[in-house]
Amino acid sequence: MIQKPKGTYDVFGEKSRQIKYIEKIINSVMEKYNYEYMKTPVFESSELFHRGVGETTDIVTKETYDFTDRGGRNMTLRPEGTAGICRSYVENKMYGTYSMPVKCWYYGSMYRYERPQSGRFREFTQFGCEVFGSDNPLVDAEIISIPVNIYKILGLKGIKVKINSLGDKESRENYREALIKHFEGEIDSLCADCKERFLKNPLRILDCKIDSNKEIMNTAPTTIDYLNEESKKHFEKVKKCLDAMDIDYEVDPKIVRGLDYYTHTVFEVEADIESFGSQKVLCGGGRYNGLVEAIGGPKTSGVGFAIGLERLLNALEAEQIVLDEENSIDVYVAPMSEEEETYALGLTQMLRLSGFKVDMDYMNRKLANNFKMADKMHAKYIMIIGDVEASTDIITIKNNNTKEEHKIKLEDVIDFLDQNLEEEE
Ligand code: HAM
Repeated sequence: MIQKPKGTYDVFGEKSRQIKYIEKIINSVMEKYNYEYMKTPVFESSELFHRGVGETTDIVTKETYDFTDRGGRNMTLRPEGTAGICRSYVENKMYGTYSMPVKCWYYGSMYRYERPQSGRFREFTQFGCEVFGSDNPLVDAEIISIPVNIYKILGLKGIKVKINSLGDKESRENYREALIKHFEGEIDSLCADCKERFLKNPLRILDCKIDSNKEIMNTAPTTIDYLNEESKKHFEKVKKCLDAMDIDYEVDPKIVRGLDYYTHTVFEVEADIESFGSQKVLCGGGRYNGLVEAIGGPKTSGVGFAIGLERLLNALEAEQIVLDEENSIDVYVAPMSEEEETYALGLTQMLRLSGFKVDMDYMNRKLANNFKMADKMHAKYIMIIGDVEASTDIITIKNNNTKEEHKIKLEDVIDFLDQNLEEEE
């Protein structure tokens, strides 16, 4: 039997309903925040991610799905959404046509060749937002508020917001020097990857999974001690804005994030739920004031985040939250025999075009089984179509709750449903 690739999953049944529910919430929250939906390709030129995500990150060195297309071009399945959105912002010259800030959101599959485990997949789904063109710390706080609000609306209680600042270019340079000083005497005791990171980008040593428990890692300097006045001011204002929005957070100087593009604010939202697995980071993001320029655009500040859908589903399960997706239908249409099937199909089409949620019997079921089916689908009304109904255009409509029956002329069926369904609501 052909099986799905390692680290991927199929969606059906209850999970499919949960995902649809979450997607509805995302859509409605994004409408309220006035963000515009954007879609970019699932594959992009490999160079974009090298320049965008960073040559020395684990994502680019170890985890990308790379391929050469039939025209000999180097392509990569996107490991994250930000680089592609920035590419689109630049390529479509949004800086010249839109009023600032440009606020957008995206939703789709991302690909990383990671070791699969609960909450960690090779194909996974991110919902993310990016805002371009504003340096204002208000926007950093707004970005943090979006995942927090979404988790709140879905009923998640155990979440912890952790924030930190990497500062501007000057602060990051000072911090880089401090890291070099800290690690230079001990570099021989670290793994081969760390030795390379030390030469190319010492910040990435802090992501090391092999040496993470060594004393030298725990005593490493933290970014916050190297912020210049400008960067400190920015971070203080972000905290003030979060306070004004009543968002609880904790400053965690250990958060540096695994992608190279960040400046100033970085944050993660963690699941703070007992029994939750090791992949507890539900969402991550931050400011990236140099990224648009790095991929060929004008100097433009940016800030954003991405939520992992699979980890969100795990968190909901850990908190035993059942998403209340409305799964009833308005009408179930039951033809009595094959003779009435096409009439029933025509009726179903008419009702659907009039905006009702309708299903019908395609399996030639006996009447008793059709009643069972209507119950299973939580149908509010059943329309039974026998030869009399089909020849007279008078439809038997049964209220599936009260079991009351009505005989209604075909031309009055829509009005009947409009009135009665409204009364039930
Ligand atoms: P990231 O931290 O790499 O950031 O990913 C964001 C979220 O995606 C994670 O918190 C996690 O929930 C989910 N995620 C990441 N890798 C996997 C995986 N292998 N399996 C399942 N879920 C995963 C970014 O991707 C940035 N682009 C976020 C951002 C947007 N920063 C600024 N704007």
